[in-house]
Amino acid sequence: GIRAFSSSAAVSEAIKRITVVGGGQMGAGIAQVAATFDHQVTLVDVSPEALERGRQYMGKSLGRVAKKKFPEDPAQQTNWVDSILGRIQGSTELSKGVSQADLVVEAIVENINVKQSLFADVAQAAPADCILASNTSSLPIGRIFENLSAERRALAVGLHFFNPVAQMKLVEVVRTGENREETVQKALDFVRAIGKSPAVCQDTPGFIVNRLLLPYMMEAIRLLERGVADSRDIDTAMKLGAGYPMGPFELADYVGLDTVKAIVDGWYTDGEGLKGDSLFMPSPKLNELVAAGNLGVKSGQGFYNYKK
Ligand code: 3HC
Repeated sequence: GIRAFSSSAAVSEAIKRITVVGGGQMGAGIAQVAATFDHQVTLVDVSPEALERGRQYMGKSLGRVAKKKFPEDPAQQTNWVDSILGRIQGSTELSKGVSQADLVVEAIVENINVKQSLFADVAQAAPADCILASNTSSLPIGRIFENLSAERRALAVGLHFFNPVAQMKLVEVVRTGENREETVQKALDFVRAIGKSPAVCQDTPGFIVNRLLLPYMMEAIRLLERGVADSRDIDTAMKLGAGYPMGPFELADYVGLDTVKAIVDGWYTDGEGLKGDSLFMPSPKLNELVAAGNLGVKSGQGFYNYKK
């Protein structure tokens, strides 16, 4: 409509304050990137300890970027990192944390009930025109928001980032069929404003990237289970033969084997259109590793050993 052509409206409506809920690798990464591109960020998590872990992660990741930006100047590196961290405020109070937000991005545990209940609370406290986004990797975006009012659902989308957020250029922007076109446009503007490239996608399991990556990872594990090759050779083959930066086992360990398992199990038992699909059949090898607490890089052991 006419409003879309008014430049003053476009400026005043730009996303400036963002609240990220969840201070894990993804949430901290999103907070870090938004702050790097001059947004005011509030990072919400349940405890001061969780917020502190998020801050450590951001400090470390920013330190890597700073070293490349100012290779000869440790003082400049510190200044740069501190100025970005200075734009990120931690909070353990969700309602306070979202009360001023132009955009709320949720990056908490991959559980539909927990996410729905979080957004019920967000809807109580966030401004009426706030964009609501979920970073879910495998749950239907529409279902996450299904209990909210039509007005809120019109402003809700998926914004799916990739690990490591600081380095990966893509963000999937997921339409729900209920969101206003303007919401998608604002999400696209935000993605570009934080130095990323968007890919727009319908609300289907795995969107684009995970719908292709998970079958690939599971097929690699099945090759291993059948004794076709060992994990090193499969990884070498895909890196040198297909140009992937990491092989499938390195990538699975990096993403987290618990996360990989949660995604495929979810789709195999309950995925819209994917239920019982042999692409996502449980793998004994994967189940065994996860049951033993061998979750990949984060636990020090997965398909490979990461203990120093
Ligand atoms: N923070 C900041 N910078 C980082 C970083 C981090 N956490 N991790 C890596 N980098 C930077 C490095 O500093 C380096 O920068 P430079 O090229 O400017 O010098 C660059 O990334 C490359 O890092 P390294 O040299 O240490 O190692 P690699 O060349 O192996 O790159 C990688 C690391 C970028 C992680 C690369 O291996 C890669 O792209 N791997 C694939 C990752 C991937 O596929 N992610 C998606 C997983 S799926 C997902 O997240 C979805 C979820 O829903 C499951």
